[in-house]
Amino acid sequence: MGKLEKLRSQRWLAKNDFRSFNHQSRVMQMGYDPKDWEGKPVIAIFNNWSDYNPCHMHFKHRVEEVKRGVLQAGGFPLELPTVSLGENLIKPSALLYRNMLAMEVEEMIRAYPVDGVVLMGGCDKTTPAMLLGATSADLPAIFLPAGPMLRGNSRGQTLGSGSDAFKYWDEHRAGTITEVHWQGIIGGIARSSGTCMTMGTASTMTSIAEALGMTLPGASSIPAVDASHQRMATQVGRRIVDMVREDLRPSAIQTHEAFLNAIIVAMALGCSTNAIIHVIAQARRAGHAIGLEDFDRISRQVQVLANIRPNGDSQYLMEDFYYAGGLPALMQRLLHHLSLTQMTVTGRTLGENIAGAQVWNEDVIRPLDKPVYAEGSLAVLRGNLAPDGCVIKPSAMSQEFLQHTGPAVVFDDYPTLKAFLDDENADVTRDHVLLLRNAGPKGGPGMPEWGMIPLPQKLLKQGLRDMVRISDARMSGTSYGACVLHVAPESFVGGNLALVCTGDLITIDIPARRIHMAVSDEELSRRRAEWVAPAPRFDRGYGHMFQQHILQADQGCDMDFLQTQFGETAGEPDIF
Ligand code: FES
Repeated sequence: MGKLEKLRSQRWLAKNDFRSFNHQSRVMQMGYDPKDWEGKPVIAIFNNWSDYNPCHMHFKHRVEEVKRGVLQAGGFPLELPTVSLGENLIKPSALLYRNMLAMEVEEMIRAYPVDGVVLMGGCDKTTPAMLLGATSADLPAIFLPAGPMLRGNSRGQTLGSGSDAFKYWDEHRAGTITEVHWQGIIGGIARSSGTCMTMGTASTMTSIAEALGMTLPGASSIPAVDASHQRMATQVGRRIVDMVREDLRPSAIQTHEAFLNAIIVAMALGCSTNAIIHVIAQARRAGHAIGLEDFDRISRQVQVLANIRPNGDSQYLMEDFYYAGGLPALMQRLLHHLSLTQMTVTGRTLGENIAGAQVWNEDVIRPLDKPVYAEGSLAVLRGNLAPDGCVIKPSAMSQEFLQHTGPAVVFDDYPTLKAFLDDENADVTRDHVLLLRNAGPKGGPGMPEWGMIPLPQKLLKQGLRDMVRISDARMSGTSYGACVLHVAPESFVGGNLALVCTGDLITIDIPARRIHMAVSDEELSRRRAEWVAPAPRFDRGYGHMFQQHILQADQGCDMDFLQTQFGETAGEPDIF
């Protein structure tokens, strides 16, 4: 493209035929005049706003600032609301619907007269979903992160999304805080629009979008309610118009090296385990064979430098990270790891974008000789319990469990597990390994964030605050604990996790990247012969399609028919 007379939207709007008559008259029905669109890039603003998504409340108004920028730069902005995935309120799992949103974005980009795309998202799955869609459509696109909410507060204590909910819920169950105190935490932990302000999945994924080059520099850490966020939104509007003129598409930005950059940055952030699933899916959409081993390899090389909850015993949150210099400052600390020549949405390289960025608080963004965690934050384990891999977050767990062997206590469903956890006479000690199955991509369905299995009431009252837990579920990025996640293949499809019996000895050895159950191959074969596959979770609708086509966690949980063969992108079909 590049030349305005070749704008894609002109196929709809510039011809002198009957179909164009219909298109033009319908745009005029909206109150626009040909002067509004003639020769101008049409910018679709995909707005992931709804009354059910508290993290995106400000998008209802923020979109006007994006439009302002588009108009300033000579474009024609049109807003397209999308299905909005409010992470906490949507059940059984927002991941179930990530691919639905991705398909919506991809198909609507294709279906409408669009030359460039602004993606407004941020709440957990919305970032990867919108980027997945834009990656496959491959028109010029820029991501506008919702920005984190302000710090939580109750009784003068800073509260962090998720992390403090889990922490104080355990205290509540252990009887160490009052009901009044608990109610104050409920009201004080989320006190503005914006995404979770710990280094959970939302901030992990928006930071990854920035490291990939798909946002303006620094955009991912600006608090949602900061005036800088409004100015950034207008800048995004201006920039996308120029991106259309430059024909700067995701395929020119999302290179193999850019995805490696994103993983490096994610590791230095002490990222959410969910990042693994989303980055693998997105990289494969872009045609790059990124897998679990890339995460494990980079994890061993990159220290955790961002001192943000839930890593270590940090008191800092995303607001502090922004004041400390945000992602450009963190990336300055990673120059020796990053490929700085990668193109970004600015039309400049990553290296040019972050030149001159400074760290303003050395305790929030640590120097290399004072990391939060000396090795990377994620580890990929393999063994007979997870032949295709599983994941753990060593930077957010009790280090006493880095190597552990104990007897399994196995649960097939969450209600049975919950009854056990609440039983004060349950037969369980700190050495046991709690194991939950049927919580994976097909079994959950949608891999609910059940992986941070709550601790048994009995042990909580004895003062225990961590133990080894294993599942094919995910866990929230704000969670912590010795939780082995994403076991693949999942139990629902007959992975070895389905064959474990209560009492089997389970070993995790994180330094050796090993997970093992002490059951012979012969015994496993015998158990497999007796295993009966559970009934499918859905017999109609989107869920039915999901269960037919969803890939396992180690492959990014994309639909098989949406993946791109490595080395080629889906591209833009020539519709008419
Ligand atoms: Fe929206 Fe956490 S619930 S980002």
